[in-house]
Amino acid sequence: IDVLSVTSEVYPLVKTGGLADVAGALPSALAAHDIAVRALIPGYPVVLGALKGGRVVAQFDDLFGGPASLIAARAGDLDLIVLDAGHLFDRAGGIYGDPTGVDWPDNWKRYAALSFVAAELAKGLVEGYRPPIIHAHDWQAAMSAAYVAFGRDISTKVVLTIHNIAFQGQFGADIFPHLRLPGEAFAMTGVEYYGGVGFLKGGMRCAHAITTVSPTYAREIRTPQFGMGLEGLLNERGHDLYGILNGIDTTAWNPQTDPNLAANYAVTNTRKRFLNREALLDRFGLEPTEGPLFGLVSRLTWQKGIDIVAENIDWLVELGGSLAVLGSGEAHLEAALAEAAQRHPGRVGFATGYDEPLSHLMQAGADVILVPSRFEPCGLTQLYGLRYGAIPLVARVGGLADTVIDANEAAVEAGVATGVQFSPVEGPELGEALSRTVSLFQRPELWARMQRKGMKTDVSWTNSAGKYAGLYRKLLGQA
Ligand code: ADP
Ligand code: GLC
Repeated sequence: IDVLSVTSEVYPLVKTGGLADVAGALPSALAAHDIAVRALIPGYPVVLGALKGGRVVAQFDDLFGGPASLIAARAGDLDLIVLDAGHLFDRAGGIYGDPTGVDWPDNWKRYAALSFVAAELAKGLVEGYRPPIIHAHDWQAAMSAAYVAFGRDISTKVVLTIHNIAFQGQFGADIFPHLRLPGEAFAMTGVEYYGGVGFLKGGMRCAHAITTVSPTYAREIRTPQFGMGLEGLLNERGHDLYGILNGIDTTAWNPQTDPNLAANYAVTNTRKRFLNREALLDRFGLEPTEGPLFGLVSRLTWQKGIDIVAENIDWLVELGGSLAVLGSGEAHLEAALAEAAQRHPGRVGFATGYDEPLSHLMQAGADVILVPSRFEPCGLTQLYGLRYGAIPLVARVGGLADTVIDANEAAVEAGVATGVQFSPVEGPELGEALSRTVSLFQRPELWARMQRKGMKTDVSWTNSAGKYAGLYRKLLGQA
């Protein structure tokens, strides 16, 4: 089965978050199920710069205001179709916004064009290629479903995966005439949303199946607390909504072979982790202490609960812990972390920016990986933590609830605990979880057992790739 994956990011070419990791790792896992994935991605400068070879397979004289071409290319294991459209994607700055972080004002056009092209491919734009399945990721690709639904004679089935319902792609009604959709699409049964145009909403309405990235998040987004206004539509489409847990790329994330570490190790010799711990302390200018070293690798936003971490830093230090943070995001959160690092020299370190190699070393060197998110569709950092023996301390929401087993008495007794969960996601509860974690850390045998249990947990794509393959087959009437 040919699947056209439509995505605004794909690791290792372009990444701002977990979506890139998923889009980059899922294709090889699906290959084992006789699913051949090609990814349609925007031709950002970083992407075009990384392509070696490639050939033009289609051209547009006017794609939403300028000429464009499709380049078929391979990059590592990835089979790509790159949308080269200079007027949309050739700009300096971030992929979604200008160098100061303000969203590009024409994002609607950039991602409508990507989705429009997906539907053209489904119609047979490129000879010999007519994917029966489009797998669209997030609002940036969601409109693929609308272009297919309102196009003529397209039999392609569309799966829409919601990686984060907080990002919905909502725009004014004034853009509608430029979308190249028939007038009837501007309706509740189409892309219309509260008088404007909703990309994610339109995709959710038109897709044949909707998935999200964990079973718990699939339930949560059907409620007002997590649905961000789309819970009604999700309940209506409940029969077509699936929660399929993310996996991770166990080759890129393998402590036995990871080139970014100071020392490689396996579940049988976790003691060698201390070399990574030392490298990490060194990197952040931290002093060695008896207490646990907490690591945090994250976008610094409200979603990720960074404010309640900041609130708890004095307490964490008082408990004997140290903290290393790698992340960038909202200015007030960056400021709070920088201030905490100044207040606690040698105990709290903060690295701003985006650093993929350092993010690996953090998983290998930290004793605990912190993920106190207010909501978390799946979360990948706790999965990397499990694989690398960094015990996850997580909020009990979304995919975090599904992937970490809390070290309560019963779980410890049964030898199944892999981490610490807390709920509700508030400062005082995080404070308690920090104390609980420090107490667990003071029991080295128990700690090592939890580490080993985590490292042996299956966090690969094997299981979930099978679920996606099953879903594709079901939509095609083959199951
Ligand atoms: P989200 O996609 O919501 O940001 P995930 O946990 O799914 O959350 O994925 C985050 C990904 O981004 C992980 O691969 C994580 O290691 C990476 N990451 C986040 N911040 C940074 C950073 N500052 N430097 C390097 N990698 C980062
Ligand atoms: C989103 C979510 C995150 C998820 C990732 C990949 O960015 O915030 O929880 O792991 O997508 O699906």
